[in-house]
Amino acid sequence: MGCAVCQDMLEVDAIVDGWGADDEFVIEMLQGVQGRFRYLPQAALERISERTGADMGRLYHIATFFKAFSLEPRGEIAIQVCTGTACHVQGSARVLDAFSRELDVKPGKSTSDLKFSLDGVRCLGCCGLAPVVTIGSELIGGVDSSKVARLLKKHGRSAAGSTRKTAKAGAEEGANA
Ligand code: FES
Repeated sequence: MGCAVCQDMLEVDAIVDGWGADDEFVIEMLQGVQGRFRYLPQAALERISERTGADMGRLYHIATFFKAFSLEPRGEIAIQVCTGTACHVQGSARVLDAFSRELDVKPGKSTSDLKFSLDGVRCLGCCGLAPVVTIGSELIGGVDSSKVARLLKKHGRSAAGSTRKTAKAGAEEGANA
């Protein structure tokens, strides 16, 4: 077993210790793990269960109930397209489609190189700027689908980068379905 895994478990242990291995704080522990790994690895859930006595069913329930948690690896840069009412009226569905097409990834998923993840989310609280998108920590208003390729480039997507790779993976996935 590679020691990257041991190192990861030490980090999970540190998070659990930070909450006194008390099962009342499993949500906080899961937040810590999500923040560190950008998702909740199965091994981390098992470790939290082992250390706190919380059963795996409860941990999975929490992990799937809250949108902030993911059981799959997430992209380094989170892209969120607001699909709330004001943004929807201003065409956010087309913006979400454009991101999905450019990255060749479905909403709720991440690119195969784990550079980006894409989600449609509820009102981001700045409806006056509709349609609104966040890319990493940047909030951008007045986005239309023609700006999407440029926005991705600005955030480090090379023209021939992840997209081609994911397109190939997607085609293979489709062929195997
Ligand atoms: S509906 Fe999009 S920010 Fe409110």
